[in-house]
Amino acid sequence: MIQIVPAPKKTTFFQREYAYKGETVRTSLDILLGEEEYILEVTAEDGITIIGGSEKAVFYGECTLEQILRQTNNRVRAMKIEDEPEFSYRAFMIDCSRHFFSVDELKAIIDTMARLKFNKFHWHLTDDQGFRMQIDALPKLHREGSVRLGSHFGNTKLNSRYEGYYSKEDMREIVAFCAARFVDVVPELDLPGHATAMIHAYPEMSCRGRKVPVETRQGIFKNILCAGSEKTYDYLYKIIDEMCEIFPGEYFHIGGDEVPKEQWMHCSACKSLMQENNLETYEQLQALMMNRVAAYLESKGKKTICWNDALKGENLAHNFIVQRWLDRKNDTLNWANSGRKVIMGDFFHSYFDYPYAMTPLKKTYSFSPYLKGMDVRGRESVIGLECCVWTEYISFNAAIEYMLFPRAAAIAQTAWGYGREDYTYFVKALESFRPVFKQNRINCAPKKDWNPLPLKRLAGTLKFLNMIRPRK
Ligand code: ACM
Ligand code: ZN
Repeated sequence: MIQIVPAPKKTTFFQREYAYKGETVRTSLDILLGEEEYILEVTAEDGITIIGGSEKAVFYGECTLEQILRQTNNRVRAMKIEDEPEFSYRAFMIDCSRHFFSVDELKAIIDTMARLKFNKFHWHLTDDQGFRMQIDALPKLHREGSVRLGSHFGNTKLNSRYEGYYSKEDMREIVAFCAARFVDVVPELDLPGHATAMIHAYPEMSCRGRKVPVETRQGIFKNILCAGSEKTYDYLYKIIDEMCEIFPGEYFHIGGDEVPKEQWMHCSACKSLMQENNLETYEQLQALMMNRVAAYLESKGKKTICWNDALKGENLAHNFIVQRWLDRKNDTLNWANSGRKVIMGDFFHSYFDYPYAMTPLKKTYSFSPYLKGMDVRGRESVIGLECCVWTEYISFNAAIEYMLFPRAAAIAQTAWGYGREDYTYFVKALESFRPVFKQNRINCAPKKDWNPLPLKRLAGTLKFLNMIRPRK
């Protein structure tokens, strides 16, 4: 038996075998195949061939072949693999605001993810605790918005200056590195909340216009962008213009999560905008603001994504792609069932900032890309899946890698082919993926940590909850 992660759609074995001696594998394109579809054939007479619907599909065939060769010691059983993914959007998100990860570290993670056939890197670049992009038109964003005077996350109380941002050259390097592995970068400019670092640099983007420090703590903060001021839009468009020059992909994320509305309630500009548009709630004001930014992005050829929180006002533009993460009211279900696009994720299954004690590998593996109550239209509206790692409590490379791997592989499996193989197959397939971890020096969590027993789960959960509890 051969085990591949993610498991191929169809494998047929034949009688004989082929002794592979390291020769170049013959590859070709066939326009009749889908963009991510490939056929890998091994025959005793002709050796190995890969036919793909595009260069990207051929790359996926090569990734599969690498795993086969490792398992067969180069004596490959004659076979035919016909493979294509179930979902076109297969993403991982890294929060580089709370902690800054170097270009080299991102490359190690991206290369590993690409070999798991992920095709989108959602780059969370802005948040309350740091703005991490060079923006020439508004240079205080990266010069001042990228610096905080401490890191007070849970039990950790460091009073040292913490800083870092990606230069244009860094971002271009990441985009090119991703492109070489058929991964698109989906940059996120989180708005109107999680914007303290932006407001620190340019207080005029907020309702009160007052300078605030870049946040040093975890949490949800009241300083949000003013929805009623033209200046806010003017600045946002300047940032977006520069981001679009760097990031050529078709998708752009504008956040929209966790937005406390108190400052809008006391702002005359926000209140007049509500009146002009006959809005009744501040949730509607949020969607109005996001719709405007999305229209700007659309004029630049982008498809806009936001977190499911933006659905609360019920007036979000229908062409938004909604990323689900935590959705107590199940707004995402109605959105999908009315034929609007959704990216599936879940706080309890695909958030890898939580320890294995809370989110064991098996639990992640069991994540369904479909919601209970999704009808045929709803299921067709799911364009893919995403796993996320937020980094308030993750400050160094070995730690982020431990949290990501191998749990990300479980999401890769579901995104490539939901329910194709069982958990036992998946764990065996991970063995043949280990050399990729090794090659990229990835600190994959050891097997004993993947699925802790109940007592260990309880102890690990309590330890984590204690660690994230802010100390006075
Ligand atoms: C989120 O986790 N705040 C999207
Ligand atoms: Zn305002």
